[in-house]
Amino acid sequence: MNSAEHKPKAFDIWNGSLLDHYDATAPNMLDRWHPVMAWWDARAQGDADPYAKVTNSEIGPRITATDRSGKRIEGLNFATQDCLNLSRHPAVRRAAADAVAQGGLHAGGSAALMGLSAGLVRLEQTIARFLDCDDATVLPTGWAAGYGVIRALVRPQDHVVIDALAHACLFEGAKAATGNVHQFDHNNIDDLVQRLTRIRAAHPAAGILVATESLFSAQSDSPDLAAMMQICRDTGALFLVDTAHDLGATGPTGRGEIEKQGVLRAIDVIMGSFSKTFASAGGFVASNHPALKTALRLGCGPSRYSNALSPVQSAVVQSCFDLVSSPTGSQLRSDLQHNSALLRSALRHEGFDILGGPSPIVPVVLGDVPLSRRITSNLFALNALANLVEFPSVPQTACRWRLQVMAGHSDDDILDFVSRAVTARRQALDAPPPGTVIENFAL
Ligand SMILES: Cc1ncc(COP(=O)(O)O)c(C=O)c1O
Repeated sequence: MNSAEHKPKAFDIWNGSLLDHYDATAPNMLDRWHPVMAWWDARAQGDADPYAKVTNSEIGPRITATDRSGKRIEGLNFATQDCLNLSRHPAVRRAAADAVAQGGLHAGGSAALMGLSAGLVRLEQTIARFLDCDDATVLPTGWAAGYGVIRALVRPQDHVVIDALAHACLFEGAKAATGNVHQFDHNNIDDLVQRLTRIRAAHPAAGILVATESLFSAQSDSPDLAAMMQICRDTGALFLVDTAHDLGATGPTGRGEIEKQGVLRAIDVIMGSFSKTFASAGGFVASNHPALKTALRLGCGPSRYSNALSPVQSAVVQSCFDLVSSPTGSQLRSDLQHNSALLRSALRHEGFDILGGPSPIVPVVLGDVPLSRRITSNLFALNALANLVEFPSVPQTACRWRLQVMAGHSDDDILDFVSRAVTARRQALDAPPPGTVIENFAL
């Protein structure tokens, strides 16, 4: 695309998705994104871009942030993850400060070379013990763990059978590993059985991996893990469960859904993230198979060719695991559960459509794209923050907030947020649709 083609252009910032703007025909691969950029910039100028906000204070129930148009939002935060608020816990801060004082800033390499610090090795042992697994391996992010473990295990002749709503890291790993990727309907055991039986009959010797999550964030629901595991046993498939959203945050001792469903030691491969409850970037893969660590160290790009978690990050996550396993962790999970139930019931009372069951995530269906964008824009103007999930991540007419509840929210925070949400929705329904915005980026 040359600059002569960059004429100021009217955008409908309240409708459409990036799919309407990406120019797949441009020979220059960077130019393909130019119209998307212009549309997003127009959205930011018109208060219709609720994404890529910058935080100006620490993560907590109240926060100061700046949106992409430069507007400051200072108020209620239901848009960040730190389920048990461990990032502010004195013991975690102390652990980080101690690691800094001991010079533990840099891993110095990948885990395959010399990036493994003593603290990271201890963390891997802690995770393995926590999950009653023989072994655990830490990776630089949860995304790397999901993508990497599938890439390490699956070869082109193998098959991956994956829940239709599973996280992008699992899908992208599966698609990079094999052309044989099969989606089963979300949490639908019958559909899984049919697909697995068919695949096994047609490919008696193939490896098959079944992948799902223990808690789905866009729905706040969970699969029947015991039933899925049994189907995997019956068909000779390997079972992988991504515990990113519930590990540490739910379950009597913080083991999440795998604990609630009594399948702790039975799942073949467990993966998770530190980004929701464990106050850090990072992720892990755990199993009872002695060869998995070798597979990850040698056959997984995101482990072999990426710097390991730093000693400071390892110390933070270690400290979070210690707290999660302590009476403090039980109390915080109980507070979180109370908060999630209160938020759900208060929103429902105001006529909002809430999905799933109580968990750290409360999905609130708002409606179609323009309405949900307008409600969210109004919410920000009322100094409250939520994350909007839009099409194509969810269906066109079911855009939603994915509210992230924390143990540290007070009842007043929750009721105040609901009252602002009601106002934001009323304003959106009352106001005429805003007009379009003129593109004004530099030509
Ligand atoms: C289900 C699931 N898996 C994996 C990830 C990736 O985790 P991380 O943020 O540690 O990369 C996420 C994060 O959004 C997630 O929701």
